[in-house]
Amino acid sequence: MRGRRALVTGASSGIGEAVSRLLAAEGYRVALLARNRARLEAVAAELPRPAEGDHLVLPCDLTRVEEIEGAVRSLEGAFGGLDLLVNNAGIGYRARVSELDPEPLRRVFDTNVFALLLTCKACYPLLVRGERPVVVNVSSVVGRRGIPGQAGYSASKAAVCSIGEALRVEWAEEDIAVSTLNPALTATGFFQNQLNPQGLPDPDLDEARPASEVAQAILALDRTPKPEVSLRWKWRLLGILSILSPRLADHALVRRLGGDWRVPRSRT
Ligand SMILES: NC(=O)c1ccc[n+]([C@@H]2O[C@H](COP(=O)([O-])OP(=O)(O)OC[C@H]3O[C@@H](n4cnc5c(N)ncnc54)[C@H](OP(=O)(O)O)[C@@H]3O)[C@@H](O)[C@H]2O)c1
Repeated sequence: MRGRRALVTGASSGIGEAVSRLLAAEGYRVALLARNRARLEAVAAELPRPAEGDHLVLPCDLTRVEEIEGAVRSLEGAFGGLDLLVNNAGIGYRARVSELDPEPLRRVFDTNVFALLLTCKACYPLLVRGERPVVVNVSSVVGRRGIPGQAGYSASKAAVCSIGEALRVEWAEEDIAVSTLNPALTATGFFQNQLNPQGLPDPDLDEARPASEVAQAILALDRTPKPEVSLRWKWRLLGILSILSPRLADHALVRRLGGDWRVPRSRT
């Protein structure tokens, strides 16, 4: 894996920072992309230097298509091609549907869905020239089972799962492997960074697992791509139950989340 060229979006913190560190430690050349240039430079400065060339810092707001295209042009100039694309940048929005605000809702879809699709599009010519090219899209377990208070965010992550399903068949001809990774609660700044928390109950962060665990899963997917991986068995089960018996899944989810959420009454 030494010398593989990776682009990690959302590399300035959390999961993106952890996976950038892990890939660099494994000998990858990493292009770190996010909006916060100072944070990217601080992360990049601590990475072990690759034998071939250097890492790359790409300050970019993914909600602006011209910035995505500019960043990918810089990437092409520096790396020539791309072997691993980690679409990880994302933002949360917690609000009941009855209280949704269009502006943050749009930002969630711009960042989590449109930017991911447009990054894939911009990187396609580089991936085609890549060595054993792999795309890992970071979705969430809530992409397979929507949760109350996060309908907009859950829907954006369901879209990411759907994009993965379409893309892995679309890009089979070029032999670009596409994997979807669904992390569960992870100890990052995600909940502080999310938009408009509106006093809804916080998830129990005691249960959060380290970002390094998600980073290891991304590395494993680059070595052995799989269509989709969900990181906790209880959430995996809930995703399956939601298809087989939505009512039972509602019960299981409400028990798990606690707080004021209620199981819908059956009207027979
Ligand atoms: N933490 C969890 O419990 C959890 C669970 C499941 C899935 N996830 C998913 O994991 C991914 C990473 O989240 P995290 O937990 O590591 O949270 P985080 O620490 O808040 O990281 C989010 C990253 O996305 C970047 N970003 C946000 N908007 C951007 C934009 N418009 N353009 C470019 N970069 C942007 C941020 O950088 P800048 O602010 O510098 O732009 C930051 O580097 C997200 O897709 C999230 O939905 C997280």
